[in-house]
Amino acid sequence: MTQLEPVSKPGVKPPKFGSLPVPAHVAIVMDGNGRWANARGLTRVEGHKAGEVALLDVVAGAIEAGVKNLTVFAFSTENWKRSPEEVRFLMGYNVEVLRRRRDQLNAWGVRVRWAGRRPRLWSSVIRELEAAEALTAKNKTLTLTMCVNYGSRVEMLDAINAMSADVASGVLKSGSVTEKTLSKYLNSGFLPDVDLFIRSSGEQRISNFLLWQSAYAELVFDDTPWPDFNRKSLWNAIVAFTNRDRRFGGAVDKPAK
Ligand code: IPE
Ligand code: IPE
Ligand code: MG
Repeated sequence: MTQLEPVSKPGVKPPKFGSLPVPAHVAIVMDGNGRWANARGLTRVEGHKAGEVALLDVVAGAIEAGVKNLTVFAFSTENWKRSPEEVRFLMGYNVEVLRRRRDQLNAWGVRVRWAGRRPRLWSSVIRELEAAEALTAKNKTLTLTMCVNYGSRVEMLDAINAMSADVASGVLKSGSVTEKTLSKYLNSGFLPDVDLFIRSSGEQRISNFLLWQSAYAELVFDDTPWPDFNRKSLWNAIVAFTNRDRRFGGAVDKPAK
């Protein structure tokens, strides 16, 4: 049993943010574990192990900053391409981390949710995700959504197939699909729009993460590999976000004087 820790760290306080409100929904591609480990002469799985502390620190930092939704990419539908050893490690590791950290998350008022596909995902992982969801269902401080066996394109295809079946059986009226309808069919459909999309490790790509919800997300790419990422890295990204100008397609005429 891990020691339960307070959310705040002595002497580490959120900075002054810019003029926009703190993002309600932050999504993070937790990337760079393997490179972090290999650069230190370690195997890739050692990098994954080092990512656990980063995640907990970032959750704490999100709570301190007032973020309500934090969604993290833990395993993609494309990550099955990795070696059987790495895939096996990641499946077992997800179970372990959830078991080891759920009481801490619960004590912080975090609601844990899962977004992803059932097919192929190890049943032990699904069980652990569902146990964490049940334990934390009533929590309101922050919702932490773990994207495990998640991929945007396949969830859209799953949704289209389910919708066409519902049209065929008369449950759904042909031609009636709205943005709201699609959200109901996505496994990540309960998530609000992403305000701030962060990727660690220096890679500057989306990698099939939350394509629907990130239509107007502000993107922040940080060179820090995930094992070295912490609440201060999150706060830096929030500072950048709060100094941006979000227009959502609109425009304001302001000729320089
Ligand atoms: C992210 O780190 C974690 C997962 C994808 C599970 P990587 O394992 O992708 O690390 P790099 O990008 O190879 O360094
Ligand atoms: C995205 O990272 C998936 C996760 C962080 C879980 P990847 O490392 O798999 O993405 P690519 O292959 O570099 O695009
Ligand atoms: Mg990677």
